Amino acid sequence: MSVGEWWREGVIYQAYPRSFQDSNGDGVGDLQGVIDRLDYLQWLGVDAVWLNPITVSPDADVGYDVADYCAVQPVFGDLATVDALVAEAAKRDIKVVLDIVPNHSSDRHPWFVDARSARASAHRDWYVWADPKPDGSPPNNWLSAFGGPAWTLDAHTGQYYLHNFLPEQPDLNWWNPAVRDAFDDIYRFWFDRGVAGFRIDVAHGIVKDKELRDNPLPTKDDPPWVHTHGQRSVYNVERPEVHEVLRRWRAVANAYDPQRILLGETYVRDVRSMGLFYGQGDELHLAFNFSYIHAPFEADVLARVVAESETIIPADGWPVWTASNHDVSRVMSRWAGGDERKLRCALLSLLTLRGTPVLYYGDEIGMPDTPLRESDLQDPLGKRFWPAPRGRDPERTPMHWSREPGGGFTKDGARPWLPVGDAAARNVEDQRRDPSSTLNFVHDLIATRRRQPDLRTGAYTQLQAAAGVWAWQRGRDTTIALNLTDKPVSVPAMKGTVIISTTRARDGERVDGGLALNPWEGAICSSAST
Ligand code: GLC
Ligand code: CA
Repeated sequence: MSVGEWWREGVIYQAYPRSFQDSNGDGVGDLQGVIDRLDYLQWLGVDAVWLNPITVSPDADVGYDVADYCAVQPVFGDLATVDALVAEAAKRDIKVVLDIVPNHSSDRHPWFVDARSARASAHRDWYVWADPKPDGSPPNNWLSAFGGPAWTLDAHTGQYYLHNFLPEQPDLNWWNPAVRDAFDDIYRFWFDRGVAGFRIDVAHGIVKDKELRDNPLPTKDDPPWVHTHGQRSVYNVERPEVHEVLRRWRAVANAYDPQRILLGETYVRDVRSMGLFYGQGDELHLAFNFSYIHAPFEADVLARVVAESETIIPADGWPVWTASNHDVSRVMSRWAGGDERKLRCALLSLLTLRGTPVLYYGDEIGMPDTPLRESDLQDPLGKRFWPAPRGRDPERTPMHWSREPGGGFTKDGARPWLPVGDAAARNVEDQRRDPSSTLNFVHDLIATRRRQPDLRTGAYTQLQAAAGVWAWQRGRDTTIALNLTDKPVSVPAMKGTVIISTTRARDGERVDGGLALNPWEGAICSSAST
């Protein structure tokens, strides 16, 4: 995309590398597999591909525990494969976005191995250490996001170390200037190789309260997950000092031409604080919106979340929307309950709101969560809490490319790292041949975005509509409506010609005096096209 900034106007595709395409039959997706599927991504029309961590990891948290930030996990390939991926993607006008994990490293990272070797070690202060309380208990009440205390006692040196996630993921000490310098170099290492940007893991949480104060209890205004967690994490995440670090990273990214982008995982308690992560145009380019993904699929709630997000994102900031990711049940299972009509309504909103859509691999064919057995589990969360919560493996299973054994993901007879599931039900090959498929719907929606400047950059204005209907205008000429009810409705605010509808039966229809929508049907109209 030559006009405008690609990260505002384009579509980002999230490919979970272990599950996208296995090129060598070992059952694990890899970078060569991503290269092999670039033609598909180009056909789909996406502008960038974001890969979950591909760096060296003992896989205590499937790649999110990094033991070397500047080397590739051998099962995925090596640096030469990354270079080939960046080059091959560029030939197809696709950017490569990687995932960086600055909140914590692996406990096997040489920094931590050194840190825990002695109190006087060179890297001791690269992590967060504190003495036990007089009774031997942890230094404060902080809880790990994965359950249990956020502290583990290191018997050898007699102090606790902090881990907001697993004990195998010790938190780095972001008050230490040496840590800050080390990460600047890590960013530059990858930016120098032509990587277009980073998705930043736990971008809201890397700096911890210097005084390690106890977290308070949840209040009635907190979302349900805060109550489930049992405390308001105000001292171990979302510290105001995090913004200083984000500004520093933005300066590193801005020094490149083209500018590299920062897409942050901002898992904040309140959508209002999400806006802060854009800074004055000097922090994140894009801050993930978890209020949207966690909302129920109901017109009034979604419209409210979007309206609120539109208000809190600064004028030069830019929204980002996502309906599934590697941590959340897939949109086909979560919002759509397996109903194709609902899925298409969800995809229509994802791709037509003002902002950058991040499309999770498999959502374009409506892959559901894959039912798994306990013995299949890889995610430490699932292993710990099975059956509820069931962990994140069901949304991380291999891509369904075709109906052949292995789903086209791996070779027939190979044992995939997670079960492939029912690839015959929905797969790329079958859906690509069928003009009425969800895959072609997504393809055509992306192409429509490309053609219609309103959809890429036009302002969002909510339109009047009946209960259960969510309707909005983009820019001057484009209107969108979703009927999220079981009854037919008419949407008077829709005008012009239907340019694409969820059933495709309506495409090209003239709209006079409002658009009639069937239950769970949605459409885009344009008063500019004829
Ligand atoms: C983020 C990742 C998640 C991971 C966690 C710890 O939330 O998305 O998958 O487990 O950080 O790194
Ligand atoms: Ca492989």
